[in-house]
Order: sequence, then C-alpha cells, then structure tokens
Amino acid sequence: MNTPSTILSAIPRRLHIQPNHPLTITRQLIESRFPGYKTHNTLFPIVTTGQNFDSLGFPQDHVGRSRTDTYYINKDTVLRTHTSAHQADVFRANESEGYLISADVYRRDAIDRTHYPIFHQMEGARTWSRQAAEKTGKSLAEVIYEDVARIPKHNIQVEDPDTPFHASRNPKQDPHSVEEVAAVATHLKRSLEDVVVTIFDAARQASSSSDPSSPSAAADEEPLKMRWVEAYFPFTSPSWELEVFWQGDWLEVLGSGVVQQAILNSADVPDRLGWAFGLGLERIAMLLYGIPDIRLFWSTDARFLSQFDADAPLKRFVPFSKYPACFKDVSFWLPAPPSPSSSNSAAGGAGTLPPSSSSSSPSAPRAPSAPPSTTAAAAAPGSPAPASPSSPPPPSPSSSPTAPAIASAPLTGQAFHENDVMEIARDVCGDVVEDVRLVDEFVHPKSRRRSLCYRVNYRSLERTLTNDETNALHQRLEQQLVEKLGVEIR
Ligand code: PHE
Repeated sequence: MNTPSTILSAIPRRLHIQPNHPLTITRQLIESRFPGYKTHNTLFPIVTTGQNFDSLGFPQDHVGRSRTDTYYINKDTVLRTHTSAHQADVFRANESEGYLISADVYRRDAIDRTHYPIFHQMEGARTWSRQAAEKTGKSLAEVIYEDVARIPKHNIQVEDPDTPFHASRNPKQDPHSVEEVAAVATHLKRSLEDVVVTIFDAARQASSSSDPSSPSAAADEEPLKMRWVEAYFPFTSPSWELEVFWQGDWLEVLGSGVVQQAILNSADVPDRLGWAFGLGLERIAMLLYGIPDIRLFWSTDARFLSQFDADAPLKRFVPFSKYPACFKDVSFWLPAPPSPSSSNSAAGGAGTLPPSSSSSSPSAPRAPSAPPSTTAAAAAPGSPAPASPSSPPPPSPSSSPTAPAIASAPLTGQAFHENDVMEIARDVCGDVVEDVRLVDEFVHPKSRRRSLCYRVNYRSLERTLTNDETNALHQRLEQQLVEKLGVEIR
C-alpha cells in the first residue's frame, strides 16, 4: 500500500459527475458528439493489476507498474491509472457498438499547474461485427465507410501522412486486412477530429462573447490546425495521437488506435473489431474555459464554481484575484544505500523508496503514467507565462534526479524517486503547493554523497498565505522528508 489517506479521501468527489462542474460540462459536450454510444460514468476506481495492466498487454517489467508511478492498495490491486482498465470488461459486456467511459484516474507524478495526482479521463471505443456485415452482403470496410459518411464534416486543416499503418513502426495486426484497417482508421480520425472542432468552436464562441478586456479573451484568433502522429500503446496497433496547434505549439490532445484483437478475443467478442481513444478531461476543460491551474477543479470556492452553468452559453473562466506566491528551497543529502552485507532491516529503513523506475527500464514503451501530456492535463492555454514577474529565476531544465549524475560507483540515494518528494509535499501542504521543481543537484567529489535542492512554490488559489503559515508548512515538509525518505537536510 502506497496510497496516502489524502488520495483515498478524494475518491468520493467524482468531479466529472457533479452538476455544473466544468469537467461535467466538458464531458457532456464530448458525449453529445457520439450519439448512441453507451456511457459509463460511475465505474469503481479500485481495480486489479489484471484489469489495469495484464488485460491490456502491458509487459511485466513496464514502468507503469512500478510503485513510484502507481498507487497500490495491495500487491494485486491499484487505483486505476487510466480508463483503459475497463476496456476488457466493457467489451465483454457487449452492450453496444460504441461506448464512452469517464472516470477519475490516479497517478503519482510531478507537481505543477497542469499535473495533479487525480485527474479525469474519457475513453471511447467503437467496434463492428464481421458477421453482421456479412449478412448485409457488404464487406466490413464498406459498412464502416457508410458509418464514416454519418460523421459531421468539417473544413479544418488536418496534417495526416495518411498511411494507415507502418509495417515496422506502427504495424497492422495480422487478423485485419489493409482495407479494414484503413476504414477503421478513417472512422476513428473523422470522429475525433469532430470532437476537437466542437471543443474549439465552443471555446471560440465563449471567448468572443466574454469581456474583451479580460486577458484570456481573444487569445486564439488563429485558425485551428490539427495533425495525426504515430504513437505506441500496448493495447492498440496501429496507434496515433491527435495534436492541435495552440498558441504557437503542437499540443497532444488524445491517444488512440485500432484495438488489439487479442483483447476482443479474450473478452469473448472475437467477431468484433474497432478503435479506441483516451483523453484527459482536465486538459480539454482548461482549453475550453481558459482555466489556468489544475488545482482549481478541486476548489469548492463559489468564486470558481459559480462561473459554470450547464444550461447557459459557455463563458471563459475569469480568474479571481491571484494571491502572492512564496518560494522556499529545501536541500538535502540522499541516504546511503544499504550495504550489501547488511540485513534486510536496513533495506526496510528505505522501505518507502521504491526502486527508481526511470533507470530500471529505460527502453520500456511509454507507461500509462509516462505520456507527459497525451491524456494528462498539460500546458494550459491562457495560463500565465511560465516566467511570470513573480517567478524565481528559471530552474535547471533537469526534472529527473534519477538521470545518471556522474558515472562510476556508488552514489548515494540510488533508490530515490522524485515522486516521493512530490507526494510528501502534497500530503503536508495539500493544494497550497503550486509546483515543486528540482533546481540543483550536486555530488560530493570525495564522499560521493548526492544532494538535491527542490524549490517549492506555495500559493493558495483562495487567499493570501501568511509568512508564519508557509514557514510552518515548510518545516513540516522538511521533517517528513527526513522521516519518510531518510534524507539529511543541509
Ligand atoms: N489509456 C491511454 C493513456 O492513458 C490512452 C489510450 C486509450 C490510448 C485508448 C489508446 C486507446 O495514455
């Protein structure tokens, strides 16, 4: 069990089904583009490792399974890290040709304005039955293209190499013909382009109707552009991500692909084939409303919640006053690794420290927790520039303290993982921590001791923090780092 009580106590919040919550409105807007798809919005978040990983073909050594990335309840049970955990079960129930699953998902991760350990995903899938196609006397591909013709058309520019698959990089599966993959890919792409066009139209209408003096209004007058890029997921092939050109950058909005036939076969629907996608609802909602900080979704402050109304035309979020930030650094020496001769009680001392995942499987395919942005919320448009006037000097670009520091043996803190610092910070400070970043790393030339310095940005979204309050929080944070990670404060 590595799941803190702060996470467990948030499970009942289910933001994506709260009336008038921006995640609910965003979910409903997307659902409205998939008429006839069966929606599942209350699936229970505690699942087996079989559901979350094995059923989807994740290899045993995949980093997504590590305790540094995933919240375990016990060795066989986790808080789902993605909505795909329910794919096999929903395929097996075989209640509809298309489905949408929206749910809270949980990942141990960095702390910043676009990452929160709990976020919300929507997963969708559409499958077709071969037998049903045969009965119509048409080929399966023809049947699928008839469905493509029912998807609303758009005239937005889309970059797509449009080779439906690539023999080595992004292969077609053996049981599928070239025509079938091309048809499924076309249906998938047109359906998801329609979602993005809908979201951006709504965002544009909202910003043109909002107060022109508000900073987020008129933010994006550029025409929408999208592109499809090849991707990898253990449970789809071929796979793609859809990216949107937004304020000067390509932004990933979703992951998708042709469902691995093995998943459908083991779900007792071998006759079906089709596509699936997954997207992060926070990211879409941040785009839609111009919400600058992912913590806001958890706010119960009326100044936040009263701005969203499912029955009124969509309005951009108007930030209420921005309270001052307070930066404090914490520097510490990492503990020495247990000596090989010592008994396992020494290892027990570092028991809260799982082995570093980034060094254990460098070539592993992307973890469900790894995509920096596909499905997790990412750079929020309308958010203040990273270096706002109140920001400290930019930190060193490294965000991975487990990256090889200085080659040769033995460094201290080999078992250290940054996510443990993040978690302790959340636990001690709750939502008043805005971000935590590594600003310095140092290896003592003689002792080979490794030291790290993290900069913690304290800022409440709802009030001004007092000095005493932040000092007390920072002190408790230092204490907890010492107690839980065995580090020595410098
Ligand atoms: N589950 C994937 C993720 O969390 C997204 C995905 C869903 C990709 C379905 C392909 C198909 O990153």
